[in-house]
Amino acid sequence: FAFSPANQAWAEGQITKYPEGRQASAVIPLLWRAQEQEGWLSKPALEYVADMLGMAYIRVLEVASFYFMFQLQPVGSVAHIQICGTLSCMICGAEDLIAVCKEKIAEKPHTLSADGKFSWEEVECLGACTNAPMAQIGKDYYEDMTAESFAKLLDDMAAGKVPTPGPLNGRYASEPLSGLT
Ligand code: FES
Repeated sequence: FAFSPANQAWAEGQITKYPEGRQASAVIPLLWRAQEQEGWLSKPALEYVADMLGMAYIRVLEVASFYFMFQLQPVGSVAHIQICGTLSCMICGAEDLIAVCKEKIAEKPHTLSADGKFSWEEVECLGACTNAPMAQIGKDYYEDMTAESFAKLLDDMAAGKVPTPGPLNGRYASEPLSGLT
């Protein structure tokens, strides 16, 4: 692994934002950029970031394995699906969505589908509990899903369509609550 020239210059710029001896503070942005470049974080990518920051490999792995936003296995070429499995989503049907993942993608999480297009995992609360159950796909949230609407969403993505993210029941919180303005 090596950063592209543009990403290398960007990463070096990030490191200069921190005082001498505090270069490790740039670990999350550098890991994020490495993941954006490769799609996931391989061991060589983690080692590359560790070398750039003068960190031990294990310290970088500690950070990368702590956050769900970092992927330590290859992900689907179309999408990596993150199903929230915490209380509100579990009560409202997360297991139905997980069953769809097992049927359409792979029985086990962090496993590529047969065509390599999708992968999935269960994650902890993503802060959209009001519109449970939900999934994060890329940087977008898809909410208020049922097994049927989620299966259709996967079919649409496999067909190259880009589904509209957000709540599926219209419960946008775009209007200020009365009394708070
Ligand atoms: Fe699922 Fe909070 S419990 S988003």
